[in-house]
Amino acid sequence: MIKILFVCLGNICRSPTAEGIFRHKIEQGGYGDNVVIDSAGTGAWHVGNPPDSRSRQTALKYGINLEDLRGRKVARQDFADYDYILAMDRDNMRNMMAICPPDHQHKISLLLNYAENDPGNGEVPDPYNSGQDGFDRVYEIIKRGCDGFLKYLMTHHAL
Ligand code: 4NP
Repeated sequence: MIKILFVCLGNICRSPTAEGIFRHKIEQGGYGDNVVIDSAGTGAWHVGNPPDSRSRQTALKYGINLEDLRGRKVARQDFADYDYILAMDRDNMRNMMAICPPDHQHKISLLLNYAENDPGNGEVPDPYNSGQDGFDRVYEIIKRGCDGFLKYLMTHHAL
């Protein structure tokens, strides 16, 4: 079993999108029995809330429904429980490193480290203050990261 946690700031835009995209890919590949997927935020403002309507709208265009997801904050136990903790940007990564026990820090990395053609500088930009077009762009970036990460898992684990 491989356990994967996607992490952003609010857990209502980027990380739920990554969770939805990656779950869809895992289900399509028939790997669902071997993988656990979740998402969380380093901030607590949106705990209990569904994903942002703009993220839900963009994902739906690709047949991915995010409406049952709810925001939660990263918890200390996550560092022990998950195998891969994939941050959307360096701030999120730094904030997790600051509270992660040293023996689990190797689990934390940037999602875009796995992208074959990283369109930016390793970071998925925060779309919260953008329009729908910003959410569409961010979706594409996250999808590239998820594509690359699935390839990585397929070559490094017997899924
Ligand atoms: P996310 O986007 O980290 O991709 O979920 C944000 C959502 C909410 C806020 C910031 C970023 N906020 O400040 O409320």
